[in-house]
Amino acid sequence: MKEQLAKIRAEALAALGGVKDSAALEELRVRYLGKKGELTAVLKQMGKLSAQERPTMGALANEVRAAVESAVDSAAKKLEERALELRLQAETVDVTIPGKAPRLGHRHPMDMALDEIKDIFVGMGFTVLDGPEIELASYNFDKLNAEEGHPSRDWSDTFYFDADSRVMLRSQTSPMQVRAMETMDLPIRIIAPGRVYRKDEVDATHSPMFHQVEGMVIDHGVTMADLKGTLNLLVEQLYGAGTKTRFRPHHFPFTEPSCEMDVQCHKCGGAGCPTCKGEGWIELLGAGMIHPKVLEMSGIDPNEWSGWAFGIGLERTAMRRFKIADLRLIFENDVRFLEQF
Ligand code: PHE
Repeated sequence: MKEQLAKIRAEALAALGGVKDSAALEELRVRYLGKKGELTAVLKQMGKLSAQERPTMGALANEVRAAVESAVDSAAKKLEERALELRLQAETVDVTIPGKAPRLGHRHPMDMALDEIKDIFVGMGFTVLDGPEIELASYNFDKLNAEEGHPSRDWSDTFYFDADSRVMLRSQTSPMQVRAMETMDLPIRIIAPGRVYRKDEVDATHSPMFHQVEGMVIDHGVTMADLKGTLNLLVEQLYGAGTKTRFRPHHFPFTEPSCEMDVQCHKCGGAGCPTCKGEGWIELLGAGMIHPKVLEMSGIDPNEWSGWAFGIGLERTAMRRFKIADLRLIFENDVRFLEQF
């Protein structure tokens, strides 16, 4: 029995010393220490021993069991350590590998054009205002001297929210003139960029949603000469020194006198070509001296104060600034188009 125990001990320790994985370890544990294992089988024979032999054999058997158990434990620990080491190796981050560069977006040409306009006016002491796109018809029309029956109030042109035509998507940024007059102290110098809406079909030059920038100055002794000087400066800064402008008489309900400003065609230099439809000039904005009635309706005395206002189409400005031929390109957000700016 002594030899049997010694053999079990030697075999078990040798096998456990070279164990490769936890499945093999478990197999060895059951084989030597399990209920049907080799050591148990030997212990079952103890009954056959004499009373003198039993205690020594018992002690030896316990010693072998303890040795095998501790060999199992240390083998398990070794396997665990190896597994951790392998995991750490596998999960190592190589900080020297070049990273993936994030894809940067592009600024939209409309934003670029708007920022240029804002810079020019902020540089002249103007404040930039933001206003509601859902607007009251009283601000979009009445307080701008466009009374009931004015063609621009027609349902075929305007998006109304109610049957009484009182709430609407603003059709112009001009209601911001009224909002500024009602809330700001005089003198006033503001621009107000934003979206406007009209019932137009989409084509190369039209969209039911587009952008305008409203501008307004009210002060003592403001004249048409101030308006022309400011707008000429705007155009020269946007399109280059020497860019020619032309002012034509026009009509708006809220300005008197009113005008439209054209810039000389950048394609043909004024000779006439398909871009300017043979005119030599391209219409850029509407403007005029604020109608005394409009000042009065907002509580400003037209005998003391005078002012001018203009409304410029931002798409048209950006199209000319960046030589974009079709308005639809501005709204489609095709990356191939946007990446050119
Ligand atoms: N609101 C006018 C338009 O949309 C433009 C304009 C603004 C005209 C300010 C005169 C003064 O056509």
